[in-house]
Amino acid sequence: MARQKTTLPALSKKVAAGIPLTMITCYDYPTAHLVEQAEVDIVLVGDSLGMTVLGYESTLPVTMADMIRHAQAVRRGSPSSWLIGDMPYMSYQPSVESAIRNAGRFLAEAGCDAVKLEGGVEMADRVAGIVACGVPVMGHLGLTPQSASALGGFRPQGKDAAGARRIADAAVALEQAGAFAILLELVPVSLCELITRRARIPIISLGSGPRAHGQLLIFHDMFGLYPRFKPRMARVYADAGALILDGLRRYVADVAERRFPQPENCFDMDEQQLSALKDLLRDAPNAAASAEPPRGGAP
Ligand code: KIV
Repeated sequence: MARQKTTLPALSKKVAAGIPLTMITCYDYPTAHLVEQAEVDIVLVGDSLGMTVLGYESTLPVTMADMIRHAQAVRRGSPSSWLIGDMPYMSYQPSVESAIRNAGRFLAEAGCDAVKLEGGVEMADRVAGIVACGVPVMGHLGLTPQSASALGGFRPQGKDAAGARRIADAAVALEQAGAFAILLELVPVSLCELITRRARIPIISLGSGPRAHGQLLIFHDMFGLYPRFKPRMARVYADAGALILDGLRRYVADVAERRFPQPENCFDMDEQQLSALKDLLRDAPNAAASAEPPRGGAP
């Protein structure tokens, strides 16, 4: 039986029952299809796709067109998850109006259920503006990759009392602005716990420990598919990268040794049609007749 569409009330019910929410990033149709079967609650089409899928060094070059294209593919593969589109760099920072217009595109063009954006008190008016237009918003605090330069790199946040206080205050501001949930990335376990206890909306942890209402992992970190580094916060559930590499090497060897393709991988014409074709070609112009013979040669 197909899974029922995940809704905000369904997520709230889980949280109220003390059941942790599961959240994962996803960027394409085949993985979305797997995520759907695993019944993950929340799927984030993260702008991390700039690094994991497009090979950029940061998320900053990612555009709305990139995000919409990937979100559409994920929605086709995962019709029942609560799908969040991640607002890329400069799609919401310039103004409340830009934030509303671009948030709306995720719902209208890609079938998303909600959007996520990075930033605290300074982004509360963007959150309020988008929410006022009927679009649920997830906030994102702690390590916010679009501000990595200002934060001094991809590093943990909120380790000292003053920094932690700023994050706790930002969580309150986002909740007051109407965010339906907040993602805390790479903040100390105790800060995540404090914010979770004080919040009336779900808090999701990415590398911020177990005491939140839910957990997020980046798909490519979980399956050994990101070649540049392996973050400590991730758990590797399977080395799909090694599995795929092994398959690729065997393919290369099979073709070189003529073990691929086999008869079951192709088909042929029946004898009568083949003979008719040879007749048809007998007097037809033949490029090879006037060209150099091929080097290497077919079997
Ligand atoms: O883009 C993304 O995947 C994210 C996560 C790092 C939270 O924003």
